Amino acid sequence: MTRINEHYLKLQGSYLFSTIAKKVAAYKIAHPDKEVISLGIGDVSQPLVPAVIEALHAASNEMGQADTFRGYGPEQGYAFLREAILQGDYLSRHIDLQADEIFVSDGAKSDVANFQELFAADCKIALQNPVYPVYLDTNVMAGRTGEFVQGAYQGIIYLPCTEENHFVPQLPKEHADIIYLCSPNNPTGTAMTREELKKWVDYAKEHNSVILYDSAYEAFISQENVPHSIYEIPGAKEVAVEFRSFSKTAGFTGLRCAYTVVPKSVQVETAAGSKQSLHALWLRRQTTKFNGVPYVVQRAAQAVYTEQGRAQTQAVIKGYMQNARVILSALQQAGLTAFGGENAPYIWLKTPKGVDSWTFFDKLLTEAQVVGTPGVGFGSCGEGFFRLTAFNTPQRTQQAAKRVAQLVF
Ligand code: MLT
Repeated sequence: MTRINEHYLKLQGSYLFSTIAKKVAAYKIAHPDKEVISLGIGDVSQPLVPAVIEALHAASNEMGQADTFRGYGPEQGYAFLREAILQGDYLSRHIDLQADEIFVSDGAKSDVANFQELFAADCKIALQNPVYPVYLDTNVMAGRTGEFVQGAYQGIIYLPCTEENHFVPQLPKEHADIIYLCSPNNPTGTAMTREELKKWVDYAKEHNSVILYDSAYEAFISQENVPHSIYEIPGAKEVAVEFRSFSKTAGFTGLRCAYTVVPKSVQVETAAGSKQSLHALWLRRQTTKFNGVPYVVQRAAQAVYTEQGRAQTQAVIKGYMQNARVILSALQQAGLTAFGGENAPYIWLKTPKGVDSWTFFDKLLTEAQVVGTPGVGFGSCGEGFFRLTAFNTPQRTQQAAKRVAQLVF
């Protein structure tokens, strides 16, 4: 009989958002008269901006003409998009990178999930608790953990992010080879300052570790002392890979486009001690396993960097951050303590005393018909917390906020 990769059997239940979707679907069937509002999965509600739509139309027309039609594109992305990213996100912030250090892809989730395959099976992984489940689950699948015992995978270095440490991961005492950091953070909605991030870059340099830095929510940063890129920190180009996405920045969750920066200066080594370039390995991986993002989608992403594209996408983000303020104020009215929502589209609320995350989920769904995400779904330190997103429409967010404000705990 064919044997399976048994590491998959160590995974806990189904993917968090599938579990929630199933629960909500069952509730809707049982209560067809109730209008459910989702502040659950971080999916955008606003349509693509006009500059992006124009670029999509123009590129579609090109695809219908013999002289402008394109077949397979470069696996790492078209030069026009890589140059736009380089200029718009890095050179303009005085970060010196090269266009061929940028790899365009169809999503930060898949990139961050795939990246771990470049590392040895016995690499020691450190990640935040609570955490975006993809970092952890993909390492479980790859066999880089032991069994799940009492709420934790053996072999993983968990970095607790709690109210006491303001949800900022603290340096571990032991050695970590790979460190996943997400800032602004999903799920806590908090962000690391330059000083806090510098500690991690220094740690990685000292320990020869690699930081996998998920910066998918960079466009939501409002505070000056929060870096937009890890490469703002001196030395980060030797130790960090950065993941960015157009999903939340420009409403591309359905269109699919993201990019990963792998500086050529990040070195890793073989068991025998020979130095290897992480950039070369990722390039080899992508050219073997990936055929690139559709031409029309890359043209759409390029349009985000035009003057109009920037102004239009920033206006949408402003709207989401206004939603965040509406949610924060409703939670305050309900007497709940909440964090985040200032540099990220996520709000991390503390459930009332003695109420666990899933009980809170049920209460919100059945009494207010509002869907959120139980904090414990992101890890044991998320127990007693609950995540709401600011991505719904202003009208539905206000409706949801009104219902939440009236809840009695
Ligand atoms: C979330 O709700 O955490 C996000 O939708 C996850 C993602 O971007 O994949």
